[in-house]
Amino acid sequence: MYKIGGYRMNTIISPSILSADFANLERDIKLVKDAGADWIHVDVMDGHFVPNITIGVPVVKSLKKVTDLPLDVHLMIENPDKYIEPFANAGADILTFHYEAVESPAKTINLIKSKNIKAGISIKPKTKPEVLLPYLEMVDMVLVMTVEPGFGGQKFMQDCAEKIKFIKDNAPQNLIIQVDGGINDITGKICKNYGANSIVAGSYIYSSSDIKAAIDSLK
Ligand code: DX5
Ligand code: ZN
Repeated sequence: MYKIGGYRMNTIISPSILSADFANLERDIKLVKDAGADWIHVDVMDGHFVPNITIGVPVVKSLKKVTDLPLDVHLMIENPDKYIEPFANAGADILTFHYEAVESPAKTINLIKSKNIKAGISIKPKTKPEVLLPYLEMVDMVLVMTVEPGFGGQKFMQDCAEKIKFIKDNAPQNLIIQVDGGINDITGKICKNYGANSIVAGSYIYSSSDIKAAIDSLK
């Protein structure tokens, strides 16, 4: 079992509940937990930073009551600083914000860390990985998007995955490098070869008739 911030042992699998049945989130989280998921990936979208609206603080608070898996909360929102305290209080274990959404990434990272939770920073497909260099020692996780954020079920962008290698080559050893968007057994392997050690997958896991086999294939 992987320990957050501890030694890297296995690939951390974080199923995205964006592809779950929103009327049955408790059931669908249990489904992936029983199949071996490590974290639960929660996609928060505000209709401004991305052209979609999903879930917010009250849902995270409710999810916290029904699962003991770490909540890996991916903020695709403008002005994330304003929402760090509410999401931390709601029970987020990892808060990842977008580099493109803030003026001072260092300030946002420190804000997250002041809540004693893990801090992640993410880049969209058009953002170069070099922009992250000043922050690699500060964060617990980097999330490389391999689709334009906003929707599940999109096609994997291979050129984005190549950024993982740059980050791995420049990162401290214990950095978690997560990849998100269009991940299945084949694209997941490509990302792991580049150096990803955490995988988000939504449609691949939840549309599978054998969820355990799908999660096993990503590990
Ligand atoms: C996209 C989200 C992803 C999404 C992934 O903006 O950040 O987490 O749920 O879905 P799949 O795995 O279907 O591409
Ligand atoms: Zn996500």
